[in-house]
Amino acid sequence: MHRSPPRTLALGVASALAVALAAPASAATQVNAGVYLDSRKPVKDRVEALLKQMSLDEKLGQMTQPERQAVTGDDITRYRIGSLLSGGGSTPTPNTPEAWADMTDGFQKQALATPLKIPLIYGVDAVHGHNNVVGATIFPHNIGLGATRDPRLVEKIGRATAEEVTGTGPDWSFAPCLCVARNDRWGRTYESFGEVPELPSMMTSIVTGFQGRKLGGPASVLATAKHYVGDGGTTGGVDQGNTQVSEAELRAVHLPPFRAAVQRGVGSVMISYSSWNGVKMHGQQYLITDVLKKELGFSGFVVSDYNGIDQIDGQAGFTPAEVTTAINAGIDMVMVPWDWKKFIDTLRGEVQNGHVSMARIDDANRRILTKKFELGLFERPLADRSYLKTVGSAQHRALARQAVAESQVLLKNDKNVLPLRRDDNKIFVAGKSADDIGTQTGGWTITWQGQTGNVTPGTTILQGIEQNAGKRTTVTYSKDGTGIDHSYKAAVAVVGELPYAEFMGDRPDGMSLDPTDLATIEKLRASGVPVIVVLVSGRPLDISAELPKWNALMEAWLPGTEGRGVADVLFGLHRPTGKLPDTWMNSVDQQPINRGDGQKPLFPFGYGLTYHRK
Ligand code: GLC
Repeated sequence: MHRSPPRTLALGVASALAVALAAPASAATQVNAGVYLDSRKPVKDRVEALLKQMSLDEKLGQMTQPERQAVTGDDITRYRIGSLLSGGGSTPTPNTPEAWADMTDGFQKQALATPLKIPLIYGVDAVHGHNNVVGATIFPHNIGLGATRDPRLVEKIGRATAEEVTGTGPDWSFAPCLCVARNDRWGRTYESFGEVPELPSMMTSIVTGFQGRKLGGPASVLATAKHYVGDGGTTGGVDQGNTQVSEAELRAVHLPPFRAAVQRGVGSVMISYSSWNGVKMHGQQYLITDVLKKELGFSGFVVSDYNGIDQIDGQAGFTPAEVTTAINAGIDMVMVPWDWKKFIDTLRGEVQNGHVSMARIDDANRRILTKKFELGLFERPLADRSYLKTVGSAQHRALARQAVAESQVLLKNDKNVLPLRRDDNKIFVAGKSADDIGTQTGGWTITWQGQTGNVTPGTTILQGIEQNAGKRTTVTYSKDGTGIDHSYKAAVAVVGELPYAEFMGDRPDGMSLDPTDLATIEKLRASGVPVIVVLVSGRPLDISAELPKWNALMEAWLPGTEGRGVADVLFGLHRPTGKLPDTWMNSVDQQPINRGDGQKPLFPFGYGLTYHRK
């Protein structure tokens, strides 16, 4: 969480108390004012005291989350807005850490200009580092972290990310995705820690990383367990599709990671766009209220996905009926990026006509305000710029490099062609993914979809190879392999997927390498030099027909900015320890293919080679 130094703390409380007490109010209000602004009081009392003073519109404002670009002038103050988000790629200009802090502080001051001074909670998708910010450390996407089988490492990544988020002002990250990806055709497979519930459950350690042992400590950022529930189990791996499974399977496969996150005290849960047996999750009162809130005991608040309530009736936009269905299902805050004024008016009408009870409105507000008090937002509402220096720091990048190395999965190593000798070697590097930061960071990087090119500071895989090469070793790079000849000792082809996010990454048809990559590899093979393929992808690909022609294969996943971690494994500075978090298909026709389903994969779940000590 972002914080001002303690001295401001005292001044903050004193001045806020003075203002609140000076305002014309009844004796009860004065007592209430004293309580809700007094950080020594129990949070529960502060919430009740504040709630008593709030008008219906103030309560509706707390339940509304616009996109930052959709609020202008004094909208936040006038409409009592309680939260804002930066959607993927929604960044200030310039996109610098300082500009982020200035931006969020600007919005926060508008919220503090309201009579009750309820601070904003600002959310971002910091899903593999603070990935919207140029210069931030970008960690491997979750599928690579699942390959590490290292929850302590993942907790450290959460902590490092929380520090970078804190310095730039936001208070809330829409992470981790705890999806259990059952069909690799799904465009969000890379956001999953793995195909079995044990992996995302294990990696809820990142929740503790984000939030700290207790909310409100140093650099404490509210985490989000998403997308509840079953987003990774849709038929055909269609993003936002229909998860057609029994309740028993839903509970056995998709629910456990959310139970684990609740047990870790996760502060928010985001609802999935997907449906369960034909009913949109955003309208599922049984799963949201009865199961998540009552059975699992989730005491934080539930947020919709981006325009998620619009999908309940299958028509564009939202209706009063959809607003009522979503709120009565148990959604406490609605991510309504653009039509937020219409949402507030609609919900007001639904309360006034009795379709939504005040008890439900108050329950939603209690949940939201409890997290704001626990985060310490009332005492320290502005960015804690002391953490700005952590953004992209050497320490965080070293952690990311370690994570990259631990995430590499060695799948083939004929005649121990790996590890590469550091000294006295002659190495040829090729492939469209070898020297491209945008490609190796993937989606959710600087922009929503991600993009190729030099999008943010980092080390490409090629640069890592060059940095790790030792004495009397030459490294030659040619993107398409032109120039290779038999004088080289090894050829490294770094190939794979171009960046994508969400439904843009769905692969309903083939899942093979693209023709560019196949041509590059063929050119290398024709030289007679041993070919080592490094695959930069967000999921297993259909490569079984090609594999026999390769001397070695290492899956690098989507490593992020610290590509040298890949080279660390190629040169044996880190022995490969990664294990597949997803079953590797023998053919795309096998999808979905998962552990224990009786199909014969190319590589089974948990597979991974290492180096034999020479
Ligand atoms: C997106 C995603 C969700 C993200 C949200 C805010 O559509 O489904 O994962 O947190 O919108 O960007």
